[in-house]
Amino acid sequence: MDKRVLSNNLLVDDEIEATLRPQRFAEFIGQPNVKEMIQVAVEAAKKRNETLDHVLLYGPPGLGKTTLAQVIANEMGVAMKTCSGPTIERTGDLAAIVTSLEPGDVLFIDEIHRLPKIVEEILYSSMEDFVIDIVVGKDAGAKSIRVDLPPFTLIGATTRFGDLTGPLRDRFGIVHKLDFYDIPDLEIICRRTAKIYDCTIDEQAIVELAKRSRGTPRIVNRLFRRVRDFADVLNDGVITHAVTRTALDKLKIDETGLDRKDREYLFAIIDKYHGGPVGLETIATSISEDPTTLEDVYEPYLIQMGFVSRTPRGRVVTEKGYQHLKKGYQGSLF
Ligand SMILES: Nc1ncnc2c1ncn2[C@@H]1O[C@H](COP(=O)(O)OP(=O)(O)O)[C@@H](O)[C@H]1O
Ligand SMILES: [Mg+2]
Repeated sequence: MDKRVLSNNLLVDDEIEATLRPQRFAEFIGQPNVKEMIQVAVEAAKKRNETLDHVLLYGPPGLGKTTLAQVIANEMGVAMKTCSGPTIERTGDLAAIVTSLEPGDVLFIDEIHRLPKIVEEILYSSMEDFVIDIVVGKDAGAKSIRVDLPPFTLIGATTRFGDLTGPLRDRFGIVHKLDFYDIPDLEIICRRTAKIYDCTIDEQAIVELAKRSRGTPRIVNRLFRRVRDFADVLNDGVITHAVTRTALDKLKIDETGLDRKDREYLFAIIDKYHGGPVGLETIATSISEDPTTLEDVYEPYLIQMGFVSRTPRGRVVTEKGYQHLKKGYQGSLF
């Protein structure tokens, strides 16, 4: 697949996601503890007429970090500026962003663990004292000037909490981990999506989609769209249980939501390394995948399901993982 196609797909996906993205706490399903804590913080800040403390959200992709950031901004009644760690290359880029904020605004930095070190260091004073030191001039004539900033709320999101430096972590007053969603919550999300798309879907189909979505709202929505394609072609657009099963089987998504890549990963450990322990890098090389992607995208769910465990000597496929693969899969595995 070439880059252009890939980026087009991402674009389409982004646009679709925007239409499904909850805007208010009331529409934000699940994560009851996180939601309650954040709701209280937002209410309290509003009551006191203060800017909300900085918020750090972390957890696997697709669980609602960006969504929750937007909900927070909406509920606070402020605008949100969005950027991503790797795109803020120089201190000047950060200065341009923070000096353009209105008082109370939310600055959302996605993938905050990927901020360049020099940028991160000047972010500290922006977060703590709402000032930024900008260097003007060059060499011997260079001097630093201090610029006051409007008070703002930084919301950082990351899939890799462990990669954040201590000083950055410490500057967030509100820190929450988003967990995988349970099936009843995914059913609610799926029902909501069907309603937004004005689609007829039966209850069993909803349960099936929820079960096979790896605890992830983004995936339930993505699978919903694929299943809807099949329903449009095969069944006048009505999403029945049978159509759902056919579509998901053709997509090679198994009963617990594992896809081809997950199976490749598990079989690589089993067939080539006797079930482990084996290092992440070695597995990644043997299935031509990027180790970071395996660690951030695939492993969290496999670990959560108890199919894989992470030991000091490497990854191991558990008894449960073996049982799951042995139980087999209707149709071919790959
Ligand atoms: N709590 C939720 N309730 C309903 N839909 C959600 C929820 N969290 C996420 N979604 C859906 O999943 C999609 C992906 O969520 P997103 O916030 O982009 O995840 P992340 O930023 O953690 O990768 C959103 O566009 C939204 O449609
Ligand atoms: Mg996001």
